[in-house]
Amino acid sequence: MVVTNAEFPPFEFKAVDGSFQGIDIEIMQHICKANGQELVIEDISFDSIIPAINSGKADCGIAGMAITEDRKQNVDFTIPYYDASLVIVVTTGSAIQGAGDLKGKRIGVQLGTTGDVFVSEIKGVEMNRFNKGAEAILALTRNKVDAVVIDNNPAQAFVAKNADKLVVLEEPLTQESYAIAVKKGNRELLRQLNEQLQRMKKDGTLAAILEKYEP
Ligand code: ARG
Repeated sequence: MVVTNAEFPPFEFKAVDGSFQGIDIEIMQHICKANGQELVIEDISFDSIIPAINSGKADCGIAGMAITEDRKQNVDFTIPYYDASLVIVVTTGSAIQGAGDLKGKRIGVQLGTTGDVFVSEIKGVEMNRFNKGAEAILALTRNKVDAVVIDNNPAQAFVAKNADKLVVLEEPLTQESYAIAVKKGNRELLRQLNEQLQRMKKDGTLAAILEKYEP
């Protein structure tokens, strides 16, 4: 069983018919197909993904999750499949033009994400942690927060829906690499996943999936 947090377009989201869609979902579909396994996905909160893997409830987690030193204490990661960066989203005409302007401001993030970690380290900001990235964006459109720090692709996806109100600032704040997380020491699953990711990188499957979800 695979856990995700389907609140992160274009990597994972729920379509109107309730089905899971996105880059990560298609990656797992390809992996399971190649291994003759059935894909079972469970949608849980982002900060429950690592605990679910640790407890053995889930075999792995795929959720646009960045490899971090902290997380590596708790889970093992596959090879990376995507390079991303954090960006700042603001309302059009905002005085906030970069990371240096975040001090003293109300900043929205998704709980337990690298955006949460990044903003938590800035002194003097008012943290507003949301369960979903979309909730942080909604708070921004309602002027409940002054900026949202989130990964670049979801930022573009959310802003596209509010194009008259919101903008993504160009400056990337960080570089991160997404990978699939497995239980620490689960070498066999890690080997299988890496083998398939390598193959998908080589034979163009991964590039085709990424292109499909290009904004
Ligand atoms: N890349 C960020 C992180 O690793 C955010 C991922 C959020 N993913 C999600 N499916 N909600 O923390």
